[in-house]
Amino acid sequence: MSGADKTSGLAGQRLLLCVGGGIAAYKALELVRRLREAGAEVQVAMTAGAQQFVTPLSFQALSGHVTRTTLWDSGAEQAMGHIELARWADRVIVAPATADLMARLAHGLADDLVTTLCLATTAPLTIAPAMNHRMWQHAATQANLATLRARGVQVVGPNDGPLAEGESGPGRLAEPEEIVAALAGAPGLAPTGPQDLAGLNIVVSAGPTYEDLDPVRYLGNRSSGKMGFAIAASAAKRGARVTLVAGPVHLATPAGVTRVDVRSAAQMHDAVFAALPADIYIGAAAVADYTPREPVANKIKKSSESLALDLVRTPDILAKVAAQTQALKLVVGFAAETNNVAEYARKKLEAKRLDLIVANRVGIADGGFESDQNAMTAYWKDGERSFATAPKTRLADELIDLIVERLNA
Ligand code: C5P
Repeated sequence: MSGADKTSGLAGQRLLLCVGGGIAAYKALELVRRLREAGAEVQVAMTAGAQQFVTPLSFQALSGHVTRTTLWDSGAEQAMGHIELARWADRVIVAPATADLMARLAHGLADDLVTTLCLATTAPLTIAPAMNHRMWQHAATQANLATLRARGVQVVGPNDGPLAEGESGPGRLAEPEEIVAALAGAPGLAPTGPQDLAGLNIVVSAGPTYEDLDPVRYLGNRSSGKMGFAIAASAAKRGARVTLVAGPVHLATPAGVTRVDVRSAAQMHDAVFAALPADIYIGAAAVADYTPREPVANKIKKSSESLALDLVRTPDILAKVAAQTQALKLVVGFAAETNNVAEYARKKLEAKRLDLIVANRVGIADGGFESDQNAMTAYWKDGERSFATAPKTRLADELIDLIVERLNA
């Protein structure tokens, strides 16, 4: 999908950007620029905290509108009252959404301009959280997040990576281009296209799993999660309710997708089964086949010349899901192979009792795990279809086409 395709849904949209008080507020300036480039009209409101990081004047220069900072500015209110501004918006975006702002939104407070606007509007709300990773992971923030999601709020990010305080973890504001792409795909904003998965619940697993050997080491694999994330995005775009169970990856959550982050195969197993019942399961994750028998509490010391790891099999999530044949309409597996791709894939199709298996060769240049593109072949009981080398986002759309066909077969 080209950049222009992704953002074309924003042309002519009236977007109200509410900027929260975090260091990431500076990135909201770039967001305004990109939203306007995509053809949207943007007005900005700032919390008092946001004004400690960026000046209202900077937003004014980029948005072409007076930046709103308080409920009590009679000059601004005369131009457009805050209720009028709340009504003006086709969509409200809160970026960065701090832990405090998320809490106030979740509880329906209206003690400043931004929270009042969010409460007074009937427009859909998108938030892009950004905060310290411990604040993000705190049960209070996660409960507020669940409340907001349950209310239909679109959540973009946060991303994993270095944070302002020199720490690292989930809490970085999604990049402006990711927010723009998510907004362009937000339900009710972009032209939606075929909704041939409307009403269906789909669970997608993606990414690698990490099996901890000790507090500092793990067994992992090179899966980037890109294919699974592209499939989740494509399914959501076509009207499905998608739960994406993601191993440790550095990817933004696709628009309209509910994401559950996990680390180990056991956690992925539990998260997938917690997300069932569903109509379709797509196992795109590269799940570890083995995990250490005993979790080691302290760092393993290099005391001898060799080290044997005692590993046990992990549960085969895909095979277990497929065994529940009465519950699901379609179970799709992936097979990453280095050789004899077709033969191994067909064996897996049968052994795991799948409806469809998607095989690709890994270990080749310009394709496979970490690449943005791939080539693959899908096999089912009495047929197969090859997908020529293409970006994973395109392959995901084509795979969803095939899934729709198989559902109706
Ligand atoms: O047997 P193999 O691991 O090659 O099969 C790959 C497929 O099985 C993928 O769809 C993967 O998500 C799934 N799988 C699983 N649980 C495991 C191992 C693999 O769901 N423990």
